[in-house]
Amino acid sequence: MILKGIILFGMIPFSMILFSVIINPFQFGRELGLGSLIDRADELATVERTIREGGKLFLIGPRRFGKTSILKTAADRLSAESAIVLRLDAESYPTLDLMVAGIVTSAARHLKGGVRRAGEQVRRFFHTLRPELDYSVLDDTWSAKLGIDSSRQDHTVLLTEALNGLEQLARAQPKTRPVGLIIDEFQRVVELGGRVAEGQIRAAIQTHSRIGYVFAGSKTRMLNDMVTDAARPFYRLGSKMFLGPIPREDFSRFLEEKFREGGYSVEPQAIVRLLDLAEDVPYNVQMLAHSCWFRLREGTTANPSALTQPFVYETLVYLVRQQDPFFTQLWRALTSIQQRTLLAVVEQGGVNLQSTKTAQSVGRGPGTIRKSLHSMIDSGILREDHLMSSTRLRFEDPFFAQWIRVTIMPANGLRQA
Ligand SMILES: Nc1ncnc2c1ncn2[C@@H]1O[C@H](COP(=O)(O)OP(=O)(O)O)[C@@H](O)[C@H]1O
Ligand SMILES: [Mg+2]
Repeated sequence: MILKGIILFGMIPFSMILFSVIINPFQFGRELGLGSLIDRADELATVERTIREGGKLFLIGPRRFGKTSILKTAADRLSAESAIVLRLDAESYPTLDLMVAGIVTSAARHLKGGVRRAGEQVRRFFHTLRPELDYSVLDDTWSAKLGIDSSRQDHTVLLTEALNGLEQLARAQPKTRPVGLIIDEFQRVVELGGRVAEGQIRAAIQTHSRIGYVFAGSKTRMLNDMVTDAARPFYRLGSKMFLGPIPREDFSRFLEEKFREGGYSVEPQAIVRLLDLAEDVPYNVQMLAHSCWFRLREGTTANPSALTQPFVYETLVYLVRQQDPFFTQLWRALTSIQQRTLLAVVEQGGVNLQSTKTAQSVGRGPGTIRKSLHSMIDSGILREDHLMSSTRLRFEDPFFAQWIRVTIMPANGLRQA
C-alpha cells in the first residue's frame, strides 16, 4: 500500500505537486484578518486610535469594500495588546434585546480572571438587566439571557443600560487597558429602534469617556444623513471616515505578485481588465481573481501559463453564468419598470438618468424613474457613488450588471455597453 503510494507519487510531475500545495491566494466572502489586508493602514490606525483614546468614530462605506475586515483586524491587534474589544454585527440580531444580550455575552467572554470572577463582574456591571449567564466548559463559551421581561421594556432603554454597564466595566479596568465597542452595520440599530433610538443612544454615550465607540455601516446615504444633518442627534458626535476603494496601484501590485508567485505570466492589460470588470470593488476583484486562478490551475484555457485579457473576460462570463440562478431570481423579483430602469443604468453607465432619453427607453416620466431608483438603492441593488460634483449610480454587486450585459441585453436586442 505504502509502496503503491510512493510509486503513484513518483509518477506525478514535480510541478504538479508544487502547484497542488499552493492554495488559491485570492480570498472572498469572509472577513480578512491580520496580514491579508491590502492598503487600509490609515483606516486601521484611526479605528485603533479611537478605541485607545475612548473616542467616537463612524466608518461609512458601501458593502463589499472591506469595513468588516478593517474592524476585525483592528480588534485583533488591540486584543493582542490586552485591550477589551467587543465587536458585534447589528444585522445578526433580529431584535434589539437580543443584541443587548449579545453585548453582555461578549463582555463575559472578554473578562479575565476565571469563570467565577467574570460572572460576578458581569452581574455587577449589568445589574439593571439582571443577566442570567451560562458557561459551557466544553466549548469554553458564554451565553447570556436578560433576566428581566424584555417584552415589557423599551428595547432602546435596555441598550442604553447595557452601554452604561459597559462604561462601568471600562472604568473598573486599569487605565492602560482600553475598552472598545464596535457595532458593524450600525444603521440596523436605528432601523430596529426607530428615530428615538438615536437620541437615547447619544444621550448615554456622550457621558462615556472610557469606551471607544466605532460604528460602521453600509447604508451610505442613511448613515451620512444621520451624522451630517444638524437636526439629528448624532451630528458632530464623533468623527466620520468614508471608505473608498483600494487604490488601483496597490491592488494591481498584489494581483500581479500573487499570479507570478503561482508561476503564471501576467499581461499588464489583464490586470486592468480584471479591475474594470469588478469595478474596483474589493470583494468582486478577489472573486474574479480567485476564479481566474482556479481556471488556470484546471488548465481550462489554450495558454494555461498566462493571465491574459481575453481569459479574464472569459472567466467573468463563466462566473456570472455560474451565478445565473441567483441573478435570475433577483431579476424576476423586480417590477418591469425597475428592470427597464436597471437596463438604462447599465446602458448609460449610471449617469443622466433624469434625461428624456432615459424616459423614452423606460417608457415612464422622470418622477417614476426616480422612485424606482430610490427603491433599488434602499433594497441594496444600487448605490450612489459621489464624484467631485456629480453622482453616479452603481451596482452594489458589479457582477449583477455584468450578468445583465451578458444575458438580458442580447436577449432584448440591446447592444452591450
Ligand atoms: N483591504 C483588503 N484587501 C484585500 N481584499 C479585501 C480588502 N478588504 C476587503 N477585501 C475583499 O472584500 C471581501 C469583503 O470584505 P468585508 O470586510 O466583508 O467588506 P464589508 O464589510 O465592507 O462588506 C473580503 O472577503 C475580501 O475578499
Ligand atoms: Mg461587513
